[in-house]
Amino acid sequence: MTEDISTADFQSEGAVPKGAAPKVVLSGIRATGRLHLGNLLGPMRHFVTLSRSPEHLCYFFVADLHSLTTLPEPGLLARYVPEIVLDYLAAGIDPNDNVIYAQSSVGETCELAVLLSNLMILSHLQRCATFKEKARQQPHNVNAGLFYYPVLMAADILGPGADLVPVGEDQLQHVEMARDLARRYNAQYGTAAGARLVVPETLERAAVRIPGLDGGSKMGKSDGNTLNLNDDSEVAWEKLRVAVTDTNRKRRKDPGDPTKCNIFTLHTYLSSDDEVREVAQGCRSAAIGCFDCKKVLHANLMAELTPFQERRAELASQESLVSDVLCDGARRVRPVIADSTARVRAAMGIESRLSCRTK
Ligand code: TRP
Ligand code: SF4
Repeated sequence: MTEDISTADFQSEGAVPKGAAPKVVLSGIRATGRLHLGNLLGPMRHFVTLSRSPEHLCYFFVADLHSLTTLPEPGLLARYVPEIVLDYLAAGIDPNDNVIYAQSSVGETCELAVLLSNLMILSHLQRCATFKEKARQQPHNVNAGLFYYPVLMAADILGPGADLVPVGEDQLQHVEMARDLARRYNAQYGTAAGARLVVPETLERAAVRIPGLDGGSKMGKSDGNTLNLNDDSEVAWEKLRVAVTDTNRKRRKDPGDPTKCNIFTLHTYLSSDDEVREVAQGCRSAAIGCFDCKKVLHANLMAELTPFQERRAELASQESLVSDVLCDGARRVRPVIADSTARVRAAMGIESRLSCRTK
């Protein structure tokens, strides 16, 4: 679609080196708690890599409005937003080359969501797997925000004109809904010059699934099976010590099967190739016990976490760093989102209101 508004049209001053036309990559994360090792080894690492490539301009935001669907305690929500920003900064996202902001700081996103909601098909919202799952999880609170979630998410994506949206499997349907919405909007209103929305592509993360310490297939906050980014050496060891291994390996002298053991999978993310080979052989031949195996993993885990924790503590000690980063990010992204919103508003026929819009 050559007439799509080019991403270059959307770039605010100072966001990208002049002359380059990088792809806009957008990623959001809900503020529902501190991040864990699964986040670090999966989405965060991937996003940090993208953020370092000159071919990409990365927008990263904390979806605090989306977090409200579960009605978190207000004080907690306010605390989680800066915590997540610190985690991402410590993981290596440079706030000068990338744009980091809070979803709620750009009110135009909500306006865009209202405009676009008229093109969202009700039955698609009803069929949304995450909505159904949430409705099951919190039957006492099946609110309209949960139902509207994909509309707001579409506005998050379409407002900054994202070309690429890196997501995990659980978010694919949401991004597909955003694509669908953009196409429907373009078909109906995109005939005027500059009125079209960029139809984003999903960037499926390399199949990274960090398993849980309880033997479950996914490390997840709600499953209570995580290693946390702020775990110190003792806490991490205590968790690893009791973590589930190959359940058929009952005694030290029994050979084990690394392919049936989450500890082994964690080795593949944290240990060197040689160590991974040695652990696999040692396990199969019962040359090593699970205790030794976990000790090696623990050392490699701390080699990853300790520098992260040090960087994070250093960043956290810089007073007003997070608020400066968030304000700067909002200042840079807001004109981009406001511009898309104004174009959509005009294309849909609300143009006349512009003349008496108060700033
Ligand atoms: N729904 C995403 C999640 O729960 C968070 C999110 C909100 C998001 N808006 C987004 C992700 C836009 C990517 C793009 O993980
Ligand atoms: Fe798992 Fe390691 Fe024990 Fe083998 S030796 S079962 S890989 S913890």
